[in-house]
Amino acid sequence: MDIRENLDLISREMHEALENVGSLQELEALKVKVLGKKGSLTALLRSMGQLSPEERPKAGQMINVAREELTAALEEKQQALSSAEKEMRLKKEAIDVTEPRDLPLVGTVHPTQLVLNEVLSCFEGLGYEVVEGPEVELDHYNFELLNLPKNHPARDAQDTFYIDDSIVLRTHTSPVQARTMLTKKPPIRIVCPGRVFRADEVDATHSPVFHQIEGLVIDKDVSMGDLKGTLDAFAKRLYGDDIEVRFRPSFFPFTEPSAEVDLTCFNCHGKGCKMCKGTGWIEVLGCGMVNPKVLEMCGIDSSVYSGFAFGIGLERITMLRYGIKDMRLLYEGDLRFLRQFR
Ligand code: DAH
Repeated sequence: MDIRENLDLISREMHEALENVGSLQELEALKVKVLGKKGSLTALLRSMGQLSPEERPKAGQMINVAREELTAALEEKQQALSSAEKEMRLKKEAIDVTEPRDLPLVGTVHPTQLVLNEVLSCFEGLGYEVVEGPEVELDHYNFELLNLPKNHPARDAQDTFYIDDSIVLRTHTSPVQARTMLTKKPPIRIVCPGRVFRADEVDATHSPVFHQIEGLVIDKDVSMGDLKGTLDAFAKRLYGDDIEVRFRPSFFPFTEPSAEVDLTCFNCHGKGCKMCKGTGWIEVLGCGMVNPKVLEMCGIDSSVYSGFAFGIGLERITMLRYGIKDMRLLYEGDLRFLRQFR
């Protein structure tokens, strides 16, 4: 067989083998088989010794051309294989940044706070300022200035947590009224949210610690009509236009006249049920025209100014807002309950 035929054979075999090479290792093995020390092309080169000196240069040239061609083919294959391998690796290691994962636990706003926010934004919209007062309060502000003299039944030790003779845990947010009247000149328009304390039993509608929102308006020519209009607007804002508001005559030492305000029962919608003790109504706040005696004690001229005040039970209106039947749910911190307000 002459050189030409040998070269053609080697080349054809290598190109055929190249078709089936699937990895860089296989390619390396093929390269050794053809171009290595014991490779077929190397063997052909060695066999040139048997040729005559005239034939040698031509044969050498042919072999070199073939060698170059085969080397180029091997290199091309090597490049194809490495880029395919790289692509596979990239695909395998790719991270899907859009894949959903477990989210960290995120807290929710407590229903009582949700309703408080709503109430405050309602009154802020009506031009009220938010004011706060101390939870540990002087008897003087909690009772005395509110026309609750020493022998008044509301001061009964059963209701009030006394710290000493003159200091109590405030039993309502009304002392903030007195504090404000003593430090601000009318016109006054404030709402005062806060925690209050009473030596009360614990059941579905009572707790020794609860929250109120006090309201106070002092100006010239403030009437009971303003009070009714304001509370009506507040109730409709929170519960919608279908809610009915009922004013019942009542008594508070710090207002005259006084009223208690009921809203349609959320549970039976007015038919009468256990929640509303069969009345169809739920009491949510006390209110009235500020007693002139209180105005005078707090340094406001009752012949020039008048005003109204109200104290809203925050837990009550929260229960009403969401149809919560047991007040204790608002204090227990049960996540199954709280997560419903997401
Ligand atoms: N302080 C009263 C209570 O805790 C509620 C209240 C009634 C507040 C009438 C007022 C008011 O400002 O005018 O039961």
